[in-house]
Amino acid sequence: MPRWFNVAGPCRPDLHYMLPAMARLPDVLRLITQQNYFVLHAPRQTGKTTAMLSLAQALTASGEWNAVLLSMEVGAPFSADPGAAETAILAEWHLMARWQLPAELAPPPWPHANPGAQLSAALSMWAAQSPRPLVLFLDEIDALQDAALLSVLRQLRSGYARRPTAFPHALALIGLRDVRDYKVASGGSERLTTASPFNIKAESLTLQDFTPAEVAALYAQHTADTGQVFTPAAVAHAFELTQGQPWLVNALARQAVEVIAPDPAQPIDYLQLEAAKAVLIQRQDTHLDSLAERLREPRVRALIEPILAGTVPTELPVDDVQFVQDLGLVRLDPHAGLVIANPIYSAIIARSLTTTTRAFFPALLPTWLDMQGRLDATRLREALLRFWRQHGQPLLGTTAYHEIAPHLVLMAFLDRVANGGGRVERELAVGRGRLDLRLEYGEVVLPIEVKVWRDGTPDPLRDGVNQFDQYLQGLGVITGWLVIFDQRRGQPPIAERTTTEEVTAPSGRLVLVIRA
Ligand SMILES: Nc1ncnc2c1ncn2[C@@H]1O[C@H](COP(=O)(O)OP(=O)(O)OP(=O)(O)O)[C@@H](O)[C@H]1O
Ligand SMILES: [Mg+2]
Repeated sequence: MPRWFNVAGPCRPDLHYMLPAMARLPDVLRLITQQNYFVLHAPRQTGKTTAMLSLAQALTASGEWNAVLLSMEVGAPFSADPGAAETAILAEWHLMARWQLPAELAPPPWPHANPGAQLSAALSMWAAQSPRPLVLFLDEIDALQDAALLSVLRQLRSGYARRPTAFPHALALIGLRDVRDYKVASGGSERLTTASPFNIKAESLTLQDFTPAEVAALYAQHTADTGQVFTPAAVAHAFELTQGQPWLVNALARQAVEVIAPDPAQPIDYLQLEAAKAVLIQRQDTHLDSLAERLREPRVRALIEPILAGTVPTELPVDDVQFVQDLGLVRLDPHAGLVIANPIYSAIIARSLTTTTRAFFPALLPTWLDMQGRLDATRLREALLRFWRQHGQPLLGTTAYHEIAPHLVLMAFLDRVANGGGRVERELAVGRGRLDLRLEYGEVVLPIEVKVWRDGTPDPLRDGVNQFDQYLQGLGVITGWLVIFDQRRGQPPIAERTTTEEVTAPSGRLVLVIRA
């Protein structure tokens, strides 16, 4: 039976197409042999559990180690009650270990101990009785917080000296964040004036997203199993859309081969992937949905807002920026600075932030199409102005991201236009001083640059036209729209201040300036 692209939980080599998981962790064997305690951290859905589970299985199968992957997750509800967290965790560990290990390696019944010392007692006894060096990978460490997290980390630190005879030989904590950050996550620095409670860690490892070659290798497994080809253009486009994010790489291919082109005789090309992307964005599966949930957190918003507007954020705490990077929502691009991690996340973010906006959208007839169903930029301009004057003001109140409410309403409008057979591309990066959008509909490509006029700054018109002129040149397009949102205090209502004018840019290109 052919395997399939996995989008739900860790991969299994017998069922799923997958890249060799342990090869993603080149240094790890040395760390284990040398009795280290270490951290593996990477954003959600990057393959942490898959890699560490494969590693544990391989180590145990080698006959030399007693290695197992256990989870902290069931401790999550007990952040204020370390004893209860331990009890829940230990019960779960017993089940997980018995499922993964042969009987002679499984843990003994846990000894009795006082709350706050149960974990330590259990690990001491297990390590002492285990016929082989005990190696533990503790997954979902982020599930623990506050007192429960501190208690666990302190027990590990104090048992560390007893290894390998009376505590695990090697141990890894697996989660989204590096351990230095747990200090913050566990309730601030007052109670932790000492060093980090996990200062025994030897190293922090992370997992990289897939490279273009790895995406090609994964997709080639499907071709080998079924005969269905991914064209080179499709593979390149998949990388472009996902930037190698492991779950997205799988999810995109799965939509393409199971929904868009279920007949293996049909090759997967650029267009099939575009269609697959649209379905993914529309469906917003669990992983994408839980990322979207994060947008409500103030520290996430504090960074996403300036990225969407292209402005420079004012004094963000370094920890908050790191947090949003650790979530996997943004990445540091060597050229563009902080950007949304990949185009699919960008689309999901823009869509999630306008869920309410779209719910209050007026019914819009596609008056921007001509008799042949082609997009007519002049009609679109009229439709936008009408929409903006009539509905702009109330719709601005429908998003929690006030600073960029006009940007979001405009994007929602363009998404509505694209709905019938086009798409909207966004270039989102912090500090560019603008937002660049591109509406593509059939043959028509309409670049749109958005700038904001704030109190105490000059009219962004001149800078805007010059920048936009270069952008248009780069795209090889002769005209586009420059939208200037006037956010200075004391402006007349939108209906009165929305105007248009045509400006000739230095290169001779015509720019339609919309002030709103
Ligand atoms: N070795 C691999 N080869 C191909 N795809 C993989 C591989 N590892 C992970 N993936 C993809 O990533 C997804 C998530 O894998 P996994 O559950 O191991 O990640 P995780 O980092 O533990 O996620 P979470 O943070 O949610 O616990 C899989 O469903 C699969 O789509
Ligand atoms: Mg996991």
